[in-house]
Amino acid sequence: MAELIDGKALARTLDERTRADVAALVAAGGPRPGLAVVLVGDDPASQVYVRRKIKGCEAVGITSFERRLPATTTEGELMAVIAGLNADPQVHGILCQVPLPPHIDQGAVLDAILPDKDVDGFHPVNVGRLSTGTGGIVPCTPLGVMMLLDSVLPDLKGLDVVVIGKSNIVGKPIAMLLLEREATVTVTHIHTKDLPQITRKADIIVAAAGSPELVRGDWVKPGAVIIDVGITRIAGENGKDRLVGDVAFAEMDHARAVTPVPGGVGPMTIACLLSNTVKAARVSAGETVAEAETL
Ligand code: GUN
Repeated sequence: MAELIDGKALARTLDERTRADVAALVAAGGPRPGLAVVLVGDDPASQVYVRRKIKGCEAVGITSFERRLPATTTEGELMAVIAGLNADPQVHGILCQVPLPPHIDQGAVLDAILPDKDVDGFHPVNVGRLSTGTGGIVPCTPLGVMMLLDSVLPDLKGLDVVVIGKSNIVGKPIAMLLLEREATVTVTHIHTKDLPQITRKADIIVAAAGSPELVRGDWVKPGAVIIDVGITRIAGENGKDRLVGDVAFAEMDHARAVTPVPGGVGPMTIACLLSNTVKAARVSAGETVAEAETL
C-alpha cells in the first residue's frame, strides 16, 4: 500500500507555526499581519474560497479586510480599491480572487498589486524573482506541494520529476521550485505526446492538469511519489458531488506515497497563504526576505 501524504495534518502544523509567529511578531512590537481579500461578483466557488481564507486568518490571529464588490464594478473602480489597499499600512497582503468578471483585465489588476503585498505570488516581479531564485513571494499551491514533497523526500537532488500542467499558477512555478532544488524537471501538458511513457520514468509526478483521473496505475513506476493537485467536482449518482483528482487514486498501490483528494494539496494552499501574509508583514517591519523565510 502506498503511504498517504496527509495534507490536513501538515496544514495544521503549518497553521500552528504561523499562529506562533504572529504572536511573536506582535509581542516584539511588530505589526499584526493584515490580509485584504477582494472578491468581485458572486461566483459561488469563489465565495466559498474567500470565506475559508477569512476564517483561516481568524484562526491564526491575522486581521482580515474583506472587500466584496458587485459584478458590475468597473476596472477603474477595482483599481481604486487596490490602490487604497496598497497604501494602507495595516494591509500586508492583498489577494484579489480570480477569475474576475470578463469586462475586467485580470492581468492589469494583478499587476497593480504592490509586489511586496502580492501574497499570491502572481505579480511579474515575484514570477521573475522565483525564476531567478532571488526570493520573493512564492505562489501558495506550489509552496504547499514542495512542503508535502519534503515530508516524504527531503532531498530532491537529481530526482526525475514530471510535472503535468503548464499553468502560471501551478505548473510553471512548481517547475521553478523543483529546479532550484536541483531535481531534473520535465514539464508536460495535455498535448504532450506519449505522456504515459514519460511519466513511467519519473521518481515524482506532480499532476496539475485539471483532468480527472488522467494518471492511471500503469503510468507510474513502482516506488514513485505522486502529488495530485487536480480537483474536479463531479456530480454523483446519489445527487451528491464528488471531488476527483488528476490521479486514479485506487490504482496507486505500487507508489511509495500519494496525496489524497480531498485532504492532500488543498488544505496546504490556505495555510501557505497565511504563512505568506506573515512573511510579508515581517518584511514590511524591516526584516530581510531571508529572515522572514525562517518561518
Ligand atoms: N482562484 C482560485 N485559486 C486562487 C488563488 O490561489 N488565488 C487567487 N487570487 N484566486 C484564486
